Amino acid sequence: MAKDLMINGATHRVDLPGEVPLLWVLRDEIGLTGTKFGCGVSACGACTVHIDGEAVRSCQVALEDVTGDITTIEGLGTPDAMHALQTAWVDHQVAQCGYCQSGQIMQAAALLAQTPDPTDADIDEAMQGNLCRCGTYPRIRAAIHTAASTMKNAG
Ligand code: FES
Ligand code: FES
Repeated sequence: MAKDLMINGATHRVDLPGEVPLLWVLRDEIGLTGTKFGCGVSACGACTVHIDGEAVRSCQVALEDVTGDITTIEGLGTPDAMHALQTAWVDHQVAQCGYCQSGQIMQAAALLAQTPDPTDADIDEAMQGNLCRCGTYPRIRAAIHTAASTMKNAG
């Protein structure tokens, strides 16, 4: 099926079977490899992107079911500036191997859009489906608090 996708503010025409997962459209067709494949069964969060601002597991969304605007890690900031979460991630040196981190940041961005000043419990609940085999959870939580503070002060 031919379909126009709005990804990070630009339209991309793809022509692929409708059942192809969005993850593979993004990575293999569009070349946006910041979004990662971890499990393929909605159990790790490595493939998290936004559709109309909502965090979704792109391994579980078929091309034919995509109805909104897609944002990936490559489009989270602006050409001139990283998103506050990305800056906080660097400041807190969150990443270790890094594999899970784009999914973590996209999940966190959706949280902050809904809950600008999250508690630890809010963070733990929102992030519980994003696994990190390097165990960066304490730094993720700290970085989310820092980004929330930055965004509030910029606000
Ligand atoms: S690859 Fe999609 S949730 Fe793990
Ligand atoms: S930083 Fe290695 S899996 Fe999360």
